[in-house]
Amino acid sequence: MQTIQSVNEMQSHAIALRSSGRLIGLVPTMGCLHEGHLSLIDIAKERADKVIVSIFVNPTQFGLNEDFDRYPKSLQEDLEKCRERGVDIVFNPSVDEMYPQGYSTYVSEEQVGSGLCGISRPNHFRGVTTVCLKLFNITRPDIAVFGQKDAQQCAVIQKMVADLNIPAQIVIGETKRGEDGLATSSRNRYLTNTQRDEALTLPKALQIAQRMVQDDGVSSVDRVVAEITHTLSSARQVRVIYVEIVDRLTMEPAGREIIPGQHIVCVAAWLDQTRLIDNIAL
Ligand code: PAF
Repeated sequence: MQTIQSVNEMQSHAIALRSSGRLIGLVPTMGCLHEGHLSLIDIAKERADKVIVSIFVNPTQFGLNEDFDRYPKSLQEDLEKCRERGVDIVFNPSVDEMYPQGYSTYVSEEQVGSGLCGISRPNHFRGVTTVCLKLFNITRPDIAVFGQKDAQQCAVIQKMVADLNIPAQIVIGETKRGEDGLATSSRNRYLTNTQRDEALTLPKALQIAQRMVQDDGVSSVDRVVAEITHTLSSARQVRVIYVEIVDRLTMEPAGREIIPGQHIVCVAAWLDQTRLIDNIAL
């Protein structure tokens, strides 16, 4: 496995790989790799000849009072996991390499990213689209794999790829969960045991919502949102940021009626200073 820090070196290498006819699979990450990331690597390995994992904690997607400075880092462990999983190249540039002095260009998708996390994290998706477009230009992937846990991020990236005619296929891997049901996330390591117990109300509420729609045929948005809010309120430390039923591609709010297969329910909540998100298909 190769590790590359230089943008120029990564880009020339990717161009050479592509011209030799190899299919490149990219898994963009911010490191601190967990089972969710590893499952995305597996998908990339199945579909591509060469797998590149990028590890870069992207400052432009963090707001002023967010956790950029304390975002967990574990490069040596990450490299070990990538090696074990059969990754070909880890691209881990520095912030100066990605955003040199005087950097001033940003890419912004203006619809799909405007609701949900776009409200409570202004500029977050602008940072995500900017870094992903840069990573696509540097690593030239045929496919890029993202996780469904970040449903709105997936939808924003898919929209950017369509709008800007980027020649990469976006593949979405399903959400990986711990045995207790909590969606895997690098931020889970901030949680104390008690907070983790309380955080389990998120997947629990989502499963109740899914059963209401899929098993009991409930189609009222208000009823399902009320049930989720009720379930979340049983956890005293959970502070809800949003509970919303939206179209899985456009992220438009569902209106009054749920359309199974088209709509997903998304939740975001604080547990003390840890922001968690999750979603489920209805
Ligand atoms: O999902 C993430 O880890 C990040 O948002 C991404 C896609 C690697 C961009 O920095």
